[in-house]
Amino acid sequence: MVTETLTAPPSSPPAARREKSSDRPSPRKVSDERAQQIREKRKKALLCVDDISVSFDGFKALTDLTLILDKGELRCIIGPNGAGKTTLMDVMTGKTKPDKGSVFFLDELENLTGLSEHEIARRGIGRKFQRPTVFPQHTARENIELALKTNKGVLASLFGRYTAADKERVDQTLEEVGLKDERTRLAGTLAHGQKQWLEIGMLLAQDPQVLLVDEPIAGMTHQEVERTAELLRRLTPAHTVVVIEHDMDFVRSIATDVVTVLHEGKLLSEGPMDTVQADPRVIEVYLGE
Ligand SMILES: Nc1ncnc2c1ncn2[C@@H]1O[C@H](COP(=O)(O)OP(=O)(O)O)[C@@H](O)[C@H]1O
Ligand SMILES: [Mg+2]
Repeated sequence: MVTETLTAPPSSPPAARREKSSDRPSPRKVSDERAQQIREKRKKALLCVDDISVSFDGFKALTDLTLILDKGELRCIIGPNGAGKTTLMDVMTGKTKPDKGSVFFLDELENLTGLSEHEIARRGIGRKFQRPTVFPQHTARENIELALKTNKGVLASLFGRYTAADKERVDQTLEEVGLKDERTRLAGTLAHGQKQWLEIGMLLAQDPQVLLVDEPIAGMTHQEVERTAELLRRLTPAHTVVVIEHDMDFVRSIATDVVTVLHEGKLLSEGPMDTVQADPRVIEVYLGE
């Protein structure tokens, strides 16, 4: 599909391979030319947030923002309160429609900004909200199982069998997020940090390509923060992870790749943590807080 899309002439009509969903309007495609431009600069580019602007009643929350994520990277996004970090995640997940710009996977070139939140989630962008949203009356294990079933679709979850492969998947996920020993506990009785990890596990059960995590360490103990840092690092390179975080020490502890700094809805600085931290514009913004 990649080659097909990239080599097709720009004027070619939409492919007829979506015949099964012909009741829906065919999704808009992003230009091949733009995709090639990005690939020239970033060979491993996976997802592009391209020239996005968002305004709320005339207030510009994001302005002409472009962000390119590489496959398997751990991207940290920092910036003072109100910089537009959460709005960026809202755009990427379809919660907020941008005034202009597009979000697309380099392999697909489908403009995701026209899709519903549910459709975008199904395309492989998973999001962890700040507040954990687990099912408190179910065990940790059941929570992961429910997430796995949701991923398989309603019909499969109603009539499908719970296979040995599913069981193994659930076990692996519990292990991955460090909750193997807590698997029979009701989620409602878990500590705050454990609930956060459980929710990350629920996202993992849905096998997203891209995982968005908004301020994961808010309210965590020091020890929980350390374990969260380890967990997020472990998720890459199998997944591409975007972490929004206000806490600079935490970012320093996980930022092995590129750090993006937003300020007043615009890209202020981008690069390795050391470079970004030494950037006078970044220092000024953080001192001025
Ligand atoms: N739904 C909304 N309606 C109006 N203003 C909003 C809305 N969402 C965000 N904003 C404003 O946009 C700016 C950016 O917000 P946000 O993306 O939440 O920043 P951050 O997450 O970086 O703290 C803020 O000034 C905020 O008040
Ligand atoms: Mg925010």
